[in-house]
Amino acid sequence: MKKNLNKKKVYVGFAADILHEGHINILKTAKSYGEVTVGLLTDAAISQYKKLPHLTYSQREIVLKNIKFVDQLIPQQTLDYSQNLKKLKPDFVVHGDDWRSGVQKKTREKVIKVLKKWGGKLIEPKYTKNISSSSIKKKIYETGVASSTRLSKLKRLINSKKIVRFLESHSALTGKIIENLSHQKKQNLIEFDGMWSSSLTDSTLRAKPDNQSVDYTSRISGLSDMLDVTTKPIIFDADNGGRVEHLPFLIKALERAGVSAVIIEDKVGLKKNSLFKNQIGVKQDTISSFSKKISLVKKVKNSDDFLLAARIESFILGKGLKDALQRAYAYSKSGADLIMIHSKSEKPDEIFRFSKIFSKSKLAKPIIAVPSTYSKTYEKDLIKNGIKIVIYANHMMRSSYPSMIKTANSILKNQRAYESEKNISTVKEMIELIK
Ligand code: SPV
Ligand code: MG
Repeated sequence: MKKNLNKKKVYVGFAADILHEGHINILKTAKSYGEVTVGLLTDAAISQYKKLPHLTYSQREIVLKNIKFVDQLIPQQTLDYSQNLKKLKPDFVVHGDDWRSGVQKKTREKVIKVLKKWGGKLIEPKYTKNISSSSIKKKIYETGVASSTRLSKLKRLINSKKIVRFLESHSALTGKIIENLSHQKKQNLIEFDGMWSSSLTDSTLRAKPDNQSVDYTSRISGLSDMLDVTTKPIIFDADNGGRVEHLPFLIKALERAGVSAVIIEDKVGLKKNSLFKNQIGVKQDTISSFSKKISLVKKVKNSDDFLLAARIESFILGKGLKDALQRAYAYSKSGADLIMIHSKSEKPDEIFRFSKIFSKSKLAKPIIAVPSTYSKTYEKDLIKNGIKIVIYANHMMRSSYPSMIKTANSILKNQRAYESEKNISTVKEMIELIK
């Protein structure tokens, strides 16, 4: 009887980020039914419905392949098992009974339906209580992450998500909101992937204009509060990178802090925010001079995972598509890992004309868009037009400022605080906000 069973094919779909006794339990059960094939979910499959795993696919693969209950391992590219099941036609699928409810409910129903086609069966061992990868991960997040782990996350997100979503963060508190907020939309987890450290809002926070009056040292030390309470990646807005002689120190400081990417724009002279209508006196760098800056950053950075984004200001300065593309090709050739294309148009047309061409070229690099002025544009249209990273560049600051003005005005007008209280957090909420 046992010998016969051992010839049967058994399939187990696993994310297997942090292995614990629950996984071993499943694998042991699976092995008792026959030859075990693990379908290891790729980063892309996992990031659809929950956070990106700590360990990369190949790290997870090595661990699983060396477990005695595993006979073979194949990638599972989607949360949906159908593709692998149809290929393998297993007699059994084994999964913990926890997926009867929650995000995987539909996946389970589909597994049963597909298995039925060849008489396969779903085996559901009782879920091992008091242990789950999610609870272990929660504990890890509470103790924080190493800067190298945070730094390397952006590259992995780019490789596994349709669009990578960043929101501006100018404090530890805004960072915490970005870290924790999420929505479950059917099977998809919708969340911010990281924090944008904006020159505009870092300056606004200090009541200074966005013209590099706030130096990099102050901005980076401001980041450290945010680093204390978050684990998501950070993209740093470095304006034009400052003096070339100082640039290596900036890059090293950012890497040390665990920042994942720096964006450097191709402008020279006194900095003026790109969204100012009047750009008179603002000069764009030459292609060759800016390309040298790119090469320098590439040379001085330590980590392969630290990314350099070249920011093209051609549309901001009234130049056309041809100039923007010419620069994109040159910057890409010089070693830029990402290209940010900026625009202050109310429509995304010029951005899309650029991204459609550049994303299909031989020198293509992931494209970053900053839809501050063309804010009616949905992410699905950014994706369709070849954009990989979206940065909502100033919205946390823009939302807090009017609220503070309103409260201050109300207290002045009424000469008491009572009227202001209907729009603000209660003291109890404040005390309980951070536990
Ligand atoms: C910032 O947020 O500081 C930026 C984007 O650089 S923009 O304000 O549009 O120039
Ligand atoms: Mg800026």
